[in-house]
Amino acid sequence: MSELTLTFEEQAMLDGAEGPGVKRAMEIVVALARIYGAADLVPVVHAQIAGVSYKNLGDAGVQFLSEWADEGARVRVPTTLNPMGMERGKWQQWGIATDFAVPQLNVIDVFAKMGVTPTMSCTPYLFREHTPVRGDALAWAESSAVAFANSVIGARSNREGGPSAIAAAVVGRTGRYGYHLDENRQANFVVEVHCPVKSVADFGALSYAVGKAMGSGVPWFADLGEWLPPLPADLTLGGPAGDRLKTLGAGLAAYGAVAVYHVAGVTPEARDLGQALIRPNAQRLVIDSLDAAYRVMDADPDLKQIDLVTVGCPHASLTEIEQVADYLRGKTLATRLWVTTGEITRRAAAELGYVQVIEAAGGEVVADTCAVVAPMRMLDVRSMATNAGKMACYAPMHSGVKMRFGDLEACLDAAVTGEWRKATSEG
Ligand code: F3S
Repeated sequence: MSELTLTFEEQAMLDGAEGPGVKRAMEIVVALARIYGAADLVPVVHAQIAGVSYKNLGDAGVQFLSEWADEGARVRVPTTLNPMGMERGKWQQWGIATDFAVPQLNVIDVFAKMGVTPTMSCTPYLFREHTPVRGDALAWAESSAVAFANSVIGARSNREGGPSAIAAAVVGRTGRYGYHLDENRQANFVVEVHCPVKSVADFGALSYAVGKAMGSGVPWFADLGEWLPPLPADLTLGGPAGDRLKTLGAGLAAYGAVAVYHVAGVTPEARDLGQALIRPNAQRLVIDSLDAAYRVMDADPDLKQIDLVTVGCPHASLTEIEQVADYLRGKTLATRLWVTTGEITRRAAAELGYVQVIEAAGGEVVADTCAVVAPMRMLDVRSMATNAGKMACYAPMHSGVKMRFGDLEACLDAAVTGEWRKATSEG
């Protein structure tokens, strides 16, 4: 294992020349670089901070962040925030208690003091000013965004933790290890998919089947391209291929610990390097059916009454919001519906009239949060339906809800009729 070499400037930060906040950040970055055997640090161009909800941070987390900001920690690269526990302008209307809302708003103030842009979204790659380009070194902590950036864009990020992403943003560097190195981006699983994968929900079910089977490996999807329309040049709009790959990466990261995947002929490194990206000793995994995945993810098959239908995990793209609006035009909802997205995307959707259509039906296009990081019990939500693989995994664990999982039409049908009417297995 090589010794870590620091530049003069990096050593000065570690020695405290730029104050205690920077010193603390450099200590974290250097400790991780040493643990993972990095030879040096790599400059990062962007950071994404996760663990923003007061639901996860608690008072101890807020105090830790406040002290760090008071020590002078300021980000030196563009840095964005993951969703928090509520929407900025709606928490009172939703009935969120002030003993949750006030500390939550304090968290955002602390990050603002550090210079972080309060995007409150897990999809920074959908925002033009924050979309990375191929080869960019990033320090992103949102696992679904890491998977998208590494795989679909060809940028490079490890799965940072909350504090390590802040530390990297403050010093503008991270250790050169893990997925910053070519050899760790090579595929060690070749996945053949011998069944139809026709919707976002199907891609979520596939993420379950593959993520559970391989854990933290790097999958090479040999034949998934036939289920993907061409990727658009402008990934910020989403589009059918982007939306499917967004949900695939999120589920692979949630059900396994996948940070990079390749799709033959589709994702950039797979297009350029072809079979050379596959390790000689790669294992083969064949997926014949998604039925078993649907049966596990659609966790409460007897559940008919849904408190909340939620779409947009990771946060919805413009095309996903458009699909919901198209379905709901002229209809009236019987059940609460959240389409969760970033404020930047919501504004774009409002300019195109999609938000107004969804609201006219009785739904909400919700910014800043999602049904995993918001205090759903406080919102009286005990059962949900979703078409998102990651939401089906996390909401029962983190929000204690019962869950139905199916395609977008099944979810929107439940929102309109007030009950889940689709059969358990979609596969
Ligand atoms: Fe994003 Fe929440 Fe899903 S943070 S990835 S919408 S669980």
